[in-house]
Amino acid sequence: MVRIDVALVPQEIEARNLNGITAIVIDVLRASTTIACAISNGCDEVIPTISVEEAVEISRAYARGDYLLCGERRGEKVEGFDLGNSPLEYTEDRVAGKKIIMTTTNGTGAIRAVKAADDVIVGSCWNLSAACERAVSLGKDILIVCAGEGRRFALEDAVCAGMMCERIASMVEADESDGCIAARRLYTVFRDNIEAALAGSEHARYLARIGFGDDVAAAAQVDRVSVVPVLHGGHIVRRAE
Ligand code: MLT
Repeated sequence: MVRIDVALVPQEIEARNLNGITAIVIDVLRASTTIACAISNGCDEVIPTISVEEAVEISRAYARGDYLLCGERRGEKVEGFDLGNSPLEYTEDRVAGKKIIMTTTNGTGAIRAVKAADDVIVGSCWNLSAACERAVSLGKDILIVCAGEGRRFALEDAVCAGMMCERIASMVEADESDGCIAARRLYTVFRDNIEAALAGSEHARYLARIGFGDDVAAAAQVDRVSVVPVLHGGHIVRRAE
């Protein structure tokens, strides 16, 4: 029996013992989608950082041609950085072979916050099946962590979490937490139109207002890639297939 739990807001993990846990971190709009895209397009690794200053500091250890400084604040590319947080920017010709040093408002922090878990997988609609299959194959209890928005509940993450819970429960006998049951119920409302679920969320409406509406439609695509980005020594790498 595998326990499936969902942290619907990131604060839920603060008091948790992550020993023996496989964590799947999701920030559908947009960090985990962007990371799935970057890893799928052949970047070397993604280094998640908490602040702009930390990202810049880490970059000093590498030759300029080897890395890209990436990330956003208020959805916009950080001034002086190479890329923002739009998955559509992370094309193969931009990212292949590069280290992506990344800071985002909620997503990269959520990934760092669960580093004590036995295994950390970065999940999104884009790599939903691959992330769930990997988590189940590890045979441990699973905690799906929604990065949320400004430490608040985010609809798009909860809907994706519900989709993951349903997928995982179809693969393995599951003991479902209340968070898991709630996320599954929410997902059933939107199952026929994930794009509408995402587009109606507060953060999607904000992204559309600042010109990133295409990212929202892109992020709603389920199983566009089959990569499993995993945290290894603090860096996100592609799990060997
Ligand atoms: C975040 O980490 O808060 C986001 O991915 C924000 C965004 O760029 O949409």
